[in-house]
Amino acid sequence: MKITISPARSVSGTVLIPGDKSVSHRYAMLASIAEGTSKIQNYSTGADCQSTLGCMRALGIQIDKTDNEVHVHGKGLNGLTAPADTLDAGNSGSTIRMLSGILAAQPFRSRVAGDESLSRRPMARIMKPLAEMGASITAHDGKFPPLEIQGGPVKAIDYALPVASAQVKTCVLFAGLYADGTTTVRESIRTRDHSELALREFGADITRAGGVISIEGKPALQARELVVPGDLSSAAFFLVAAMILPGSELTLQAVGLNPTRSSLIDFLISMGADIKVPMLHEMGGELIGNLRVRGGRITGGLIEKATTAAVIDEIPVLAVLGALSESGLTVRDASELRIKETDRIATMAENFARMGVKMDVLEDGFHVPGRQKFHAAEVDSFGDHRIAMACAVAALAADGDCVIENAGAASVSYPEFYQTLRSITA
Ligand code: S3P
Repeated sequence: MKITISPARSVSGTVLIPGDKSVSHRYAMLASIAEGTSKIQNYSTGADCQSTLGCMRALGIQIDKTDNEVHVHGKGLNGLTAPADTLDAGNSGSTIRMLSGILAAQPFRSRVAGDESLSRRPMARIMKPLAEMGASITAHDGKFPPLEIQGGPVKAIDYALPVASAQVKTCVLFAGLYADGTTTVRESIRTRDHSELALREFGADITRAGGVISIEGKPALQARELVVPGDLSSAAFFLVAAMILPGSELTLQAVGLNPTRSSLIDFLISMGADIKVPMLHEMGGELIGNLRVRGGRITGGLIEKATTAAVIDEIPVLAVLGALSESGLTVRDASELRIKETDRIATMAENFARMGVKMDVLEDGFHVPGRQKFHAAEVDSFGDHRIAMACAVAALAADGDCVIENAGAASVSYPEFYQTLRSITA
Protein backbone atom coordinates (compact mmCIF):
# COMPACT_ATOMS: atom_id res chain seq x y z
CA MET A 1 0.00 0.00 0.00
CA LYS A 2 1.18 3.49 -0.99
CA ILE A 3 -0.03 6.58 0.77
CA THR A 4 0.41 10.25 -0.11
CA ILE A 5 0.96 12.73 2.70
CA SER A 6 0.54 16.42 1.94
CA PRO A 7 2.32 19.18 3.84
CA ALA A 8 0.37 20.69 6.73
CA ARG A 9 0.59 24.13 8.32
CA SER A 10 -0.36 22.89 11.77
CA VAL A 11 -2.05 20.07 13.65
CA SER A 12 -4.82 20.61 16.15
CA GLY A 13 -7.50 18.79 18.10
CA THR A 14 -7.77 15.90 20.51
CA VAL A 15 -6.53 12.36 19.95
CA LEU A 16 -7.42 9.34 22.05
CA ILE A 17 -4.24 7.27 21.92
CA PRO A 18 -4.87 3.52 21.41
CA GLY A 19 -3.65 0.87 23.86
CA ASP A 20 0.03 0.35 24.57
CA LYS A 21 1.66 -2.48 22.65
CA SER A 22 4.08 -3.50 25.41
CA VAL A 23 1.41 -3.59 28.12
CA SER A 24 -1.10 -5.41 25.88
CA HIS A 25 1.28 -8.31 25.16
CA ARG A 26 2.03 -8.77 28.85
CA TYR A 27 -1.62 -8.62 29.97
CA ALA A 28 -2.66 -11.18 27.32
CA MET A 29 0.10 -13.65 28.22
CA LEU A 30 -0.34 -13.35 31.97
CA ALA A 31 -4.16 -13.49 31.73
CA SER A 32 -3.78 -16.78 29.81
CA ILE A 33 -1.83 -18.41 32.65
CA ALA A 34 -3.94 -16.87 35.44
CA GLU A 35 -7.01 -18.58 36.92
CA GLY A 36 -10.31 -17.23 35.58
CA THR A 37 -11.50 -14.65 33.08
CA SER A 38 -9.54 -11.43 32.75
CA LYS A 39 -11.17 -8.43 31.08
CA ILE A 40 -8.71 -6.17 29.30
CA GLN A 41 -9.97 -2.80 28.10
CA ASN A 42 -8.28 -0.77 25.36
CA TYR A 43 -6.16 -3.73 24.19
CA SER A 44 -3.82 -2.69 21.37
CA THR A 45 -5.40 -2.99 17.91
CA GLY A 46 -1.96 -3.43 16.33
CA ALA A 47 -1.14 -6.60 14.40
CA ASP A 48 1.67 -7.47 16.84
CA CYS A 49 -0.72 -7.78 19.77
CA GLN A 50 -3.14 -9.77 17.62
CA SER A 51 -0.24 -12.18 16.98
CA THR A 52 0.04 -12.68 20.73
CA LEU A 53 -3.70 -13.41 20.98
CA GLY A 54 -3.38 -15.88 18.09
CA CYS A 55 -0.53 -17.71 19.85
CA MET A 56 -2.42 -17.89 23.16
CA ARG A 57 -5.49 -19.27 21.36
CA ALA A 58 -3.31 -21.88 19.64
CA LEU A 59 -2.11 -22.85 23.13
CA GLY A 60 -5.70 -23.67 24.11
CA ILE A 61 -6.87 -20.37 25.61
CA GLN A 62 -10.31 -19.06 24.72
CA ILE A 63 -10.20 -15.35 23.98
CA ASP A 64 -13.29 -13.30 23.08
CA LYS A 65 -13.23 -9.79 21.72
CA THR A 66 -15.89 -7.13 22.04
CA ASP A 67 -15.64 -3.57 20.72
CA ASN A 68 -13.14 -2.32 23.23
CA GLU A 69 -12.49 -5.32 25.47
CA VAL A 70 -10.63 -8.58 25.25
CA HIS A 71 -11.79 -11.38 27.55
CA VAL A 72 -9.12 -13.99 28.23
CA HIS A 73 -10.36 -17.22 29.84
CA GLY A 74 -7.19 -18.14 31.71
CA LYS A 75 -6.52 -21.76 32.68
CA GLY A 76 -3.87 -21.25 35.33
CA LEU A 77 -0.10 -21.67 35.28
CA ASN A 78 -0.33 -25.24 33.99
CA GLY A 79 -3.38 -24.94 31.74
CA LEU A 80 -1.78 -24.39 28.32
CA THR A 81 -2.02 -27.25 25.83
CA ALA A 82 0.30 -28.32 23.01
CA PRO A 83 -0.26 -26.30 19.82
CA ALA A 84 -1.36 -28.29 16.77
CA ASP A 85 0.79 -26.18 14.48
CA THR A 86 3.67 -23.69 14.39
CA LEU A 87 2.91 -20.62 16.53
CA ASP A 88 2.93 -17.50 14.37
CA ALA A 89 4.52 -14.45 16.01
CA GLY A 90 4.15 -12.42 12.79
CA ASN A 91 6.35 -9.31 12.96
CA SER A 92 6.46 -9.29 16.74
CA GLY A 93 9.76 -9.59 18.59
CA SER A 94 7.92 -9.12 21.89
CA THR A 95 5.65 -12.09 21.18
CA ILE A 96 8.39 -14.56 20.33
CA ARG A 97 10.84 -13.46 23.02
CA MET A 98 8.43 -13.11 25.94
CA LEU A 99 6.31 -16.15 25.06
CA SER A 100 9.43 -18.33 24.79
CA GLY A 101 9.90 -17.90 28.54
CA ILE A 102 6.50 -19.50 29.11
CA LEU A 103 6.93 -22.17 26.40
CA ALA A 104 10.29 -23.27 27.82
CA ALA A 105 8.48 -24.50 30.94
CA GLN A 106 5.57 -26.37 29.29
CA PRO A 107 5.31 -30.17 29.21
CA PHE A 108 5.18 -30.12 25.40
CA ARG A 109 7.16 -29.16 22.32
CA SER A 110 6.40 -26.01 20.36
CA ARG A 111 7.70 -24.24 17.32
CA VAL A 112 7.49 -20.44 16.97
CA ALA A 113 8.05 -18.64 13.67
CA GLY A 114 7.44 -15.20 12.22
CA ASP A 115 7.62 -13.11 9.08
CA GLU A 116 10.72 -12.31 7.06
CA SER A 117 11.78 -9.41 9.30
CA LEU A 118 11.32 -11.40 12.52
CA SER A 119 13.26 -14.29 10.97
CA ARG A 120 16.34 -12.03 10.90
CA ARG A 121 16.12 -10.89 14.53
CA PRO A 122 18.51 -12.24 17.16
CA MET A 123 17.20 -14.86 19.58
CA ALA A 124 20.47 -15.91 21.25
CA ARG A 125 19.76 -13.28 23.89
CA ILE A 126 16.81 -15.35 25.17
CA MET A 127 18.20 -18.77 24.29
CA LYS A 128 21.19 -18.31 26.60
CA PRO A 129 19.32 -17.64 29.87
CA LEU A 130 16.62 -20.19 29.02
CA ALA A 131 19.34 -22.81 28.42
CA GLU A 132 20.77 -21.91 31.85
CA MET A 133 17.33 -22.61 33.26
CA GLY A 134 17.46 -26.04 31.67
CA ALA A 135 15.38 -25.45 28.53
CA SER A 136 16.17 -27.08 25.24
CA ILE A 137 15.81 -24.66 22.31
CA THR A 138 17.12 -24.81 18.77
CA ALA A 139 17.03 -22.01 16.23
CA HIS A 140 17.70 -21.42 12.56
CA ASP A 141 21.48 -20.93 12.19
CA GLY A 142 21.65 -21.28 15.95
CA LYS A 143 20.18 -17.84 16.59
CA PHE A 144 17.22 -16.88 14.38
CA PRO A 145 13.53 -17.88 14.30
CA PRO A 146 11.89 -20.33 13.88
CA LEU A 147 12.56 -21.56 17.40
CA GLU A 148 11.97 -25.18 18.35
CA ILE A 149 11.31 -25.30 22.06
CA GLN A 150 11.21 -28.58 23.93
CA GLY A 151 9.53 -27.52 27.14
CA GLY A 152 10.15 -29.11 30.52
CA PRO A 153 10.95 -28.32 34.15
CA VAL A 154 13.02 -25.14 34.52
CA LYS A 155 15.23 -24.08 37.40
CA ALA A 156 15.63 -20.66 38.99
CA ILE A 157 18.67 -18.63 37.94
CA ASP A 158 20.36 -15.36 38.79
CA TYR A 159 20.91 -13.61 35.47
CA ALA A 160 22.69 -10.35 34.64
CA LEU A 161 21.28 -8.93 31.40
CA PRO A 162 24.12 -8.44 28.89
CA VAL A 163 21.90 -6.10 26.78
CA ALA A 164 19.39 -3.55 28.03
CA SER A 165 16.27 -5.41 26.90
CA ALA A 166 12.88 -5.54 28.58
CA GLN A 167 11.93 -8.43 26.32
CA VAL A 168 14.80 -10.56 27.60
CA LYS A 169 14.10 -9.54 31.21
CA THR A 170 10.45 -10.52 30.73
CA CYS A 171 11.34 -13.84 29.11
CA VAL A 172 13.42 -14.83 32.15
CA LEU A 173 10.82 -13.60 34.67
CA PHE A 174 8.03 -15.47 32.86
CA ALA A 175 10.11 -18.68 32.88
CA GLY A 176 10.85 -17.98 36.56
CA LEU A 177 7.11 -18.33 37.27
CA TYR A 178 7.54 -22.05 36.62
CA ALA A 179 10.76 -22.63 38.62
CA ASP A 180 11.05 -23.60 42.28
CA GLY A 181 12.48 -20.76 44.34
CA THR A 182 13.63 -17.28 43.38
CA THR A 183 14.64 -16.21 39.90
CA THR A 184 16.66 -12.99 39.78
CA VAL A 185 17.34 -10.66 36.86
CA ARG A 186 19.91 -7.86 37.16
CA GLU A 187 19.85 -4.87 34.84
CA SER A 188 22.53 -2.18 34.78
CA ILE A 189 20.43 0.09 32.57
CA ARG A 190 16.82 0.37 33.61
CA THR A 191 14.37 -0.90 30.98
CA ARG A 192 10.59 -0.62 30.86
CA ASP A 193 9.03 -2.29 33.91
CA HIS A 194 5.57 -3.20 32.56
CA SER A 195 6.23 -6.88 33.28
CA GLU A 196 7.08 -6.25 36.91
CA LEU A 197 3.94 -4.15 37.36
CA ALA A 198 1.71 -6.62 35.49
CA LEU A 199 3.12 -9.65 37.34
CA ARG A 200 2.34 -7.91 40.64
CA GLU A 201 -1.20 -7.12 39.42
CA PHE A 202 -1.85 -10.77 38.56
CA GLY A 203 -0.63 -11.80 42.01
CA ALA A 204 3.00 -12.84 41.55
CA ASP A 205 5.49 -12.23 44.35
CA ILE A 206 7.97 -9.91 42.66
CA THR A 207 10.35 -7.38 44.17
CA ARG A 208 12.78 -4.82 42.87
CA ALA A 209 15.77 -3.32 44.66
CA GLY A 210 17.85 -1.03 42.47
CA GLY A 211 18.49 -2.98 39.29
CA VAL A 212 17.78 -6.36 40.90
CA ILE A 213 14.40 -7.93 40.19
CA SER A 214 13.38 -11.16 41.93
CA ILE A 215 10.36 -13.36 41.38
CA GLU A 216 9.16 -16.36 43.38
CA GLY A 217 8.19 -19.40 41.35
CA LYS A 218 4.87 -21.28 41.23
CA PRO A 219 2.42 -18.53 42.26
CA ALA A 220 -1.33 -18.89 41.69
CA LEU A 221 -1.99 -16.02 39.29
CA GLN A 222 -5.50 -14.60 39.46
CA ALA A 223 -7.62 -13.08 36.66
CA ARG A 224 -7.88 -9.29 36.67
CA GLU A 225 -9.89 -6.47 35.10
CA LEU A 226 -7.41 -4.08 33.56
CA VAL A 227 -7.24 -1.04 31.31
CA VAL A 228 -4.33 -0.68 28.92
CA PRO A 229 -2.90 2.87 28.90
CA GLY A 230 -2.50 4.68 25.57
CA ASP A 231 0.80 3.97 23.85
CA LEU A 232 3.35 6.74 24.47
CA SER A 233 5.40 5.44 21.52
CA SER A 234 2.37 6.03 19.26
CA ALA A 235 1.71 9.42 20.89
CA ALA A 236 5.31 10.36 20.05
CA PHE A 237 4.45 10.79 16.36
CA PHE A 238 1.82 13.41 17.20
CA LEU A 239 4.00 15.10 19.82
CA VAL A 240 6.69 15.62 17.20
CA ALA A 241 4.15 16.64 14.53
CA ALA A 242 2.86 19.37 16.85
CA MET A 243 6.38 20.49 17.78
CA ILE A 244 7.56 20.93 14.17
CA LEU A 245 4.48 22.79 12.94
CA PRO A 246 4.25 26.22 14.59
CA GLY A 247 0.74 27.19 15.68
CA SER A 248 -0.15 23.57 16.49
CA GLU A 249 -2.03 22.62 19.62
CA LEU A 250 -2.91 19.01 20.38
CA THR A 251 -4.31 17.15 23.36
CA LEU A 252 -3.39 13.46 23.56
CA GLN A 253 -5.67 11.56 25.90
CA ALA A 254 -5.06 8.67 28.29
CA VAL A 255 -1.38 8.21 27.48
CA GLY A 256 0.74 5.78 29.51
CA LEU A 257 3.36 7.77 31.40
CA ASN A 258 5.20 4.98 33.17
CA PRO A 259 8.46 6.58 34.42
CA THR A 260 10.50 3.92 32.58
CA ARG A 261 9.01 5.24 29.32
CA SER A 262 8.43 8.93 30.02
CA SER A 263 12.07 10.03 29.59
CA LEU A 264 10.74 10.82 26.13
CA ILE A 265 8.72 13.72 27.57
CA ASP A 266 11.72 14.97 29.58
CA PHE A 267 13.86 14.81 26.46
CA LEU A 268 11.30 16.68 24.34
CA ILE A 269 11.05 19.36 27.01
CA SER A 270 14.86 19.62 27.01
CA MET A 271 14.54 20.22 23.23
CA GLY A 272 12.24 23.16 23.94
CA ALA A 273 8.84 21.45 23.74
CA ASP A 274 5.83 23.11 25.32
CA ILE A 275 4.21 20.00 26.87
CA LYS A 276 1.85 20.05 29.83
CA VAL A 277 0.42 17.08 31.72
CA PRO A 278 -2.78 18.48 33.24
CA MET A 279 -4.06 15.16 34.67
CA LEU A 280 -2.33 12.08 35.97
CA HIS A 281 -3.77 8.94 37.58
CA GLU A 282 -2.78 5.35 38.21
CA MET A 283 -4.33 2.10 36.94
CA GLY A 284 -2.90 -1.37 37.41
CA GLY A 285 0.32 0.21 38.65
CA GLU A 286 0.68 2.21 35.41
CA LEU A 287 0.57 6.03 35.33
CA ILE A 288 -1.83 7.53 32.79
CA GLY A 289 -2.28 11.17 31.84
CA ASN A 290 -3.33 13.61 29.14
CA LEU A 291 -0.62 15.51 27.28
CA ARG A 292 -1.09 19.00 25.87
CA VAL A 293 1.53 20.02 23.33
CA ARG A 294 2.05 23.26 21.42
CA GLY A 295 4.33 23.98 18.47
CA GLY A 296 7.25 26.33 18.90
CA ARG A 297 11.00 26.68 19.03
CA ILE A 298 13.06 23.46 18.95
CA THR A 299 16.66 23.72 20.15
CA GLY A 300 18.66 20.51 19.67
CA GLY A 301 20.01 17.66 21.73
CA LEU A 302 22.02 14.56 22.49
CA ILE A 303 20.57 11.13 23.28
CA GLU A 304 22.99 8.63 24.83
CA LYS A 305 23.43 5.94 27.49
CA ALA A 306 20.34 5.18 29.59
CA THR A 307 18.25 7.75 27.69
CA THR A 308 18.88 5.86 24.45
CA ALA A 309 17.46 2.66 25.96
CA ALA A 310 14.48 4.55 27.36
CA VAL A 311 13.48 6.20 24.05
CA ILE A 312 14.72 3.49 21.66
CA ASP A 313 11.38 3.08 19.85
CA GLU A 314 10.91 6.83 19.39
CA ILE A 315 14.30 7.51 17.79
CA PRO A 316 13.07 7.40 14.15
CA VAL A 317 10.61 10.23 14.75
CA LEU A 318 13.12 12.08 16.97
CA ALA A 319 15.46 12.11 13.97
CA VAL A 320 12.79 14.11 12.12
CA LEU A 321 12.63 16.55 15.02
CA GLY A 322 16.43 16.83 14.99
CA ALA A 323 16.54 17.85 11.33
CA LEU A 324 14.09 20.69 12.00
CA SER A 325 15.73 21.82 15.23
CA GLU A 326 18.19 24.68 15.61
CA SER A 327 21.34 22.71 16.41
CA GLY A 328 20.47 19.15 15.36
CA LEU A 329 20.36 15.82 17.14
CA THR A 330 23.06 13.29 17.99
CA VAL A 331 22.15 9.74 19.02
CA ARG A 332 24.77 7.39 20.54
CA ASP A 333 24.76 3.95 22.22
CA ALA A 334 21.99 2.91 19.83
CA SER A 335 23.38 -0.22 18.14
CA GLU A 336 20.11 -1.95 19.10
CA LEU A 337 18.43 0.20 16.41
CA ARG A 338 20.20 -1.91 13.82
CA ILE A 339 18.36 -5.07 14.88
CA LYS A 340 14.80 -3.78 15.20
CA GLU A 341 12.09 -4.50 12.58
CA THR A 342 14.61 -2.98 10.12
CA ASP A 343 18.08 -1.54 10.62
CA ARG A 344 16.51 1.75 11.65
CA ILE A 345 19.72 3.75 11.29
CA ALA A 346 20.03 2.59 7.68
CA THR A 347 16.34 2.93 6.78
CA MET A 348 16.06 6.45 8.26
CA ALA A 349 19.30 7.52 6.54
CA GLU A 350 17.97 6.21 3.20
CA ASN A 351 14.65 8.02 3.56
CA PHE A 352 16.32 11.25 4.71
CA ALA A 353 18.60 11.09 1.66
CA ARG A 354 15.54 10.73 -0.58
CA MET A 355 14.01 13.79 1.10
CA GLY A 356 17.22 15.79 0.70
CA VAL A 357 18.05 15.73 4.41
CA LYS A 358 21.56 15.06 5.65
CA MET A 359 22.21 12.39 8.28
CA ASP A 360 25.71 11.32 9.33
CA VAL A 361 25.61 7.64 10.17
CA LEU A 362 27.72 6.52 13.14
CA GLU A 363 28.42 2.96 14.15
CA ASP A 364 26.15 3.19 17.21
CA GLY A 365 23.84 6.01 16.15
CA PHE A 366 23.77 9.10 13.96
CA HIS A 367 24.00 12.86 13.82
CA VAL A 368 21.36 14.95 12.06
CA PRO A 369 22.35 18.59 11.56
CA GLY A 370 19.63 21.13 12.35
CA ARG A 371 17.88 23.80 10.25
CA GLN A 372 17.24 21.43 7.32
CA LYS A 373 14.27 21.18 4.95
CA PHE A 374 12.37 18.06 3.93
CA HIS A 375 11.68 17.91 0.19
CA ALA A 376 8.85 16.10 -1.57
CA ALA A 377 9.97 12.55 -2.35
CA GLU A 378 8.99 8.92 -2.58
CA VAL A 379 10.07 7.18 0.61
CA ASP A 380 9.72 3.61 1.87
CA SER A 381 8.84 2.07 5.23
CA PHE A 382 10.81 -1.05 4.23
CA GLY A 383 8.06 -2.88 6.12
CA ASP A 384 8.83 -1.16 9.44
CA HIS A 385 5.88 0.44 11.25
CA ARG A 386 7.86 3.13 13.03
CA ILE A 387 9.72 4.10 9.85
CA ALA A 388 6.38 4.48 8.02
CA MET A 389 4.97 6.79 10.71
CA ALA A 390 8.19 8.79 11.16
CA CYS A 391 8.24 9.43 7.40
CA ALA A 392 4.59 10.55 7.52
CA VAL A 393 5.49 13.11 10.20
CA ALA A 394 8.47 14.33 8.15
CA ALA A 395 6.14 14.64 5.15
CA LEU A 396 3.93 17.11 7.05
CA ALA A 397 6.87 19.53 7.07
CA ALA A 398 7.94 18.87 3.45
CA ASP A 399 7.71 21.34 0.55
CA GLY A 400 5.31 19.11 -1.42
CA ASP A 401 3.47 15.78 -1.40
CA CYS A 402 5.43 12.72 -0.25
CA VAL A 403 4.54 9.16 -1.18
CA ILE A 404 5.21 6.42 1.37
CA GLU A 405 5.69 2.95 -0.09
CA ASN A 406 4.66 0.03 2.13
CA ALA A 407 2.78 2.49 4.33
CA GLY A 408 0.53 -0.32 5.59
CA ALA A 409 3.33 -1.42 7.93
CA ALA A 410 1.99 1.16 10.40
CA SER A 411 -0.76 -1.31 11.30
CA VAL A 412 1.80 -3.43 13.17
CA SER A 413 1.37 -1.06 16.10
CA TYR A 414 -1.14 1.59 15.02
CA PRO A 415 -3.74 0.67 12.38
CA GLU A 416 -5.66 3.94 12.91
CA PHE A 417 -2.57 6.15 12.42
CA TYR A 418 -3.19 7.71 8.97
CA GLN A 419 -6.86 8.29 9.66
CA THR A 420 -6.03 10.07 12.91
CA LEU A 421 -3.26 12.05 11.24
CA ARG A 422 -5.74 13.20 8.58
CA SER A 423 -8.25 14.23 11.23
CA ILE A 424 -5.80 16.56 12.99
CA THR A 425 -4.42 18.13 9.82
CA ALA A 426 -7.86 18.77 8.26
C1 S3P B 1 9.71 -3.86 24.27
C2 S3P B 1 11.05 -3.68 24.52
C3 S3P B 1 11.95 -3.04 23.56
C4 S3P B 1 11.19 -2.25 22.51
C5 S3P B 1 10.05 -3.05 21.94
C6 S3P B 1 9.07 -3.42 23.02
C7 S3P B 1 8.89 -4.53 25.29
O1 S3P B 1 12.69 -4.05 22.90
O2 S3P B 1 12.05 -1.81 21.50
O3 S3P B 1 9.37 -2.29 20.95
O4 S3P B 1 7.65 -4.48 25.20
O5 S3P B 1 9.46 -5.09 26.23
P1 S3P B 1 14.01 -4.70 23.54
O6 S3P B 1 13.63 -5.51 24.70
O7 S3P B 1 14.59 -5.53 22.43
O8 S3P B 1 14.91 -3.55 23.90
